Amino acid sequence: MSNPAKPNTSRLLTQSHFHLPMGVADNYRYWGEENTVFVKTSEGCTITDADDQCYVDFRLAYGPIILGYRDTRIDQAVIKAITERGTISGFSTELESEVIELVKQMCPNIEKMRFANSGTEAVIGAVRTARAFTGRNKIVLVEGGFHGLYDEMMWKPDVDNWNADSGKAPEIKPFGGGIPEASREHLETVPLNSFDAIDAVFARVGHDLAAIIIEPILGNCGSIASSQEYMQKLRDVCDANGTLLIMDEVKTGFRVAKGGAQELYGINADLTTYAKAMGNGYPVAAFGGRADVMGVINANSNGVVHGGTYTSNVIALTAAKATLTVLNQTNAYDTINKAGADIQQVLSRVFTKHGIEHRFAGPDAMFGIHFGDIVPSNYRDWKQTDSALYTEFAMNLIKHGVMLEPDSREPWFICESHQTVDLNWLEEIVDRSMAEAIEAKS
Ligand SMILES: Cc1ncc(COP(=O)(O)O)c(C=O)c1O
Repeated sequence: MSNPAKPNTSRLLTQSHFHLPMGVADNYRYWGEENTVFVKTSEGCTITDADDQCYVDFRLAYGPIILGYRDTRIDQAVIKAITERGTISGFSTELESEVIELVKQMCPNIEKMRFANSGTEAVIGAVRTARAFTGRNKIVLVEGGFHGLYDEMMWKPDVDNWNADSGKAPEIKPFGGGIPEASREHLETVPLNSFDAIDAVFARVGHDLAAIIIEPILGNCGSIASSQEYMQKLRDVCDANGTLLIMDEVKTGFRVAKGGAQELYGINADLTTYAKAMGNGYPVAAFGGRADVMGVINANSNGVVHGGTYTSNVIALTAAKATLTVLNQTNAYDTINKAGADIQQVLSRVFTKHGIEHRFAGPDAMFGIHFGDIVPSNYRDWKQTDSALYTEFAMNLIKHGVMLEPDSREPWFICESHQTVDLNWLEEIVDRSMAEAIEAKS
């Protein structure tokens, strides 16, 4: 059923169904026949859909936009670079070292780095590197984390259909079809912040654990954060067992602080993956860390092979250089954090007015909202929050011109341009959206 209020969007979706499975280029962009969004243009912290409705956007393409859409400081640098030197040559450029030098100024955990085109590719590179360095196979995944769409990382706890009172752990299931059972062979999964679970895994298979991969702040599960003690525990247990700690900072990197989540915790990973905010929306990613670990990427017969046709292309690296320069040299993080804190205040005021218990999780630049009286400490706890009310509220926000993912597992992303949001307008929209959500429930 199409949406009569959105004639252009409906027409575009009907047309797209002839050409793309589900009518979209990414499964997660399909929000049903009435709600799937087609974007016409974007600017600052706003997007405009095919029917000319403008939204203040807190989804920000799942996190890459850190300054704002169409930021001229980045776009002009890219346009200049591609008109003067082209896009790819299949050879090296000086941009590679220039970008890594900038990364090193911001992230002391990085000694050597390689580039990739997406977060998924960066994770593939980091995991392969960890396995080659340790000569081991097993990888520990933390429940609620997301590490990209490749077979091995597409196993997740089925918390949606889990009975929290069963006394059992949620079943681990693949994201969908086409994922061979064999891709799970080397995986161990643990709930975040459980010392017992991590001790049990190390007691059982510690000798074969190549790495733990963790989003320090679950950017795909409401910004539920690792406690300081748990992160230290992971660092210590990895050191004691010759296992590597991989921090997937695809969402947190260059967003939650100059040095990402590792700066907030004061704990370094052995390997780190980056993408998203690194290029303010241009497709650039990277993985890197300890020089000795990265050294297994070499030309020996058993060295790790990494690369690809589009790796470190001029567009990606120019965007990264320009974005990191702005982030490193201006007060952008202060602006972003202030905007995030102000917006949480608005939300909190309205929730309290309506008698809705709520908790925020994660940093101001990427915060989760949880309806209930606990800050969840892991994905299983998230099940205790009122995610149905959140979705109802979120769908109303979208209707009234505030874009976000209508699932409380996706955080609110803040960019520098959000400093321009009229907070009185936002408060009115949030108030109306929550009133309607409560009304619909009663
Ligand atoms: C933490 C994390 N790792 C990896 C990925 C995969 O990145 P990409 O979609 O660029 O492949 C994502 C994507 O959202 C992510 O959030």
